[in-house]
Amino acid sequence: MNVLVVGGAGYIGSHCVRQALAAGHAVAVLDDLSYGHAESVPPGVELFRADMGDEPSVRAALRTGRTDVVIDFAAFTNVGESVRQPERYHENNVVRTEGLLRAMLAEDVRKLVFSSTCATYGIPDRMPMTEDLPQRPINPYGATKLAVEHRLRALAATEGLSFAAFRYFNAAGASADAAIGEDHAPETHLIPLAIAAALGRRPPLQVFGADYPTPDGTCLRDYVHVDDLSRAHLDVLPKLEAPGQALFYNLGTGTPYSVKDVIASVGRILGRPVPHEFAPRREGDPPALYADASKARRELGWSPRYATLDDIVRTACAWHLARPAGFAS
Ligand SMILES: NC(=O)c1ccc[n+]([C@@H]2O[C@H](COP(=O)([O-])OP(=O)(O)OC[C@H]3O[C@@H](n4cnc5c(N)ncnc54)[C@H](O)[C@@H]3O)[C@@H](O)[C@H]2O)c1
Repeated sequence: MNVLVVGGAGYIGSHCVRQALAAGHAVAVLDDLSYGHAESVPPGVELFRADMGDEPSVRAALRTGRTDVVIDFAAFTNVGESVRQPERYHENNVVRTEGLLRAMLAEDVRKLVFSSTCATYGIPDRMPMTEDLPQRPINPYGATKLAVEHRLRALAATEGLSFAAFRYFNAAGASADAAIGEDHAPETHLIPLAIAAALGRRPPLQVFGADYPTPDGTCLRDYVHVDDLSRAHLDVLPKLEAPGQALFYNLGTGTPYSVKDVIASVGRILGRPVPHEFAPRREGDPPALYADASKARRELGWSPRYATLDDIVRTACAWHLARPAGFAS
């Protein structure tokens, strides 16, 4: 298929681009490089540097690539920042996504894979989390993703848009050859912060809360390898052939690991301890979030190939050792 990967110069998008190429698809990338890295776009893949809300530019990219399907990763993703700047998040994640959708319909491109998030659920009533849990986001970031999910559902009903929205848990790891990996500025994700602390590139890791009702007192999360996430975007494409499909899937391994587990794993793999200190809980951090991804297993035949935290952390460590300053190295 001819695939336009929007946000394809970002962390997860760049992994998906490589996998789509390996699967034989023709791939182009549209990214405004607000957070992405042009260096992550493979040679031979056309990069349209544009805002997804800029309809003429998006339409030109769709036409040039004779696009069959859009895979959309583009968003601002920092939860804390979304609390401080809710309008900016609404503008980018909702209003500009609306521009992308208008451009797609104008060019008669009616297949979309969309990056949603487990943050749309807020603080869930039960674990593991299934897709039918109530969605009550507790921060503006999660609210923007839920707003897009609602909009997509409406367009499936009225315009014949066929879409899959994947609700990711915690994306982690790097490509197996350490050529691309996570390079966010500022970095807020636990695994890269723990690695940087262990390598002396950052101050000691702050652990927010050691008094949660979990086995070791720290928060439990579901870490899923970025290549496993990416593969699901290709696995779902056959399902989008029929018009009007509205599909929602959780993507996680279903195995919860605590902050202390992550610290131990990074220490084991790097062979040096992760300096860390304990701080009070952060507001809005639920004790545990982990997926029931059996719907994706059942309907897409998807299952994570990186099954353990150590498997995932090993790839992240290899990337951070190979590229101490990320793509700027
Ligand atoms: N990383 C995670 O753990 C995680 C978890 C759940 C959901 N998600 C979602 O997955 C997607 C990808 O996340 P990521 O970690 O790769 O983020 P990222 O910041 O690395 O990638 C996002 C990309 O989108 C681009 N972008 C942002 N706004 C744009 C716009 N208006 N027009 C064009 N390009 C734009 C950025 O330049 C960047 O390259 C996001 O939608 C995020 O909300 C990520």
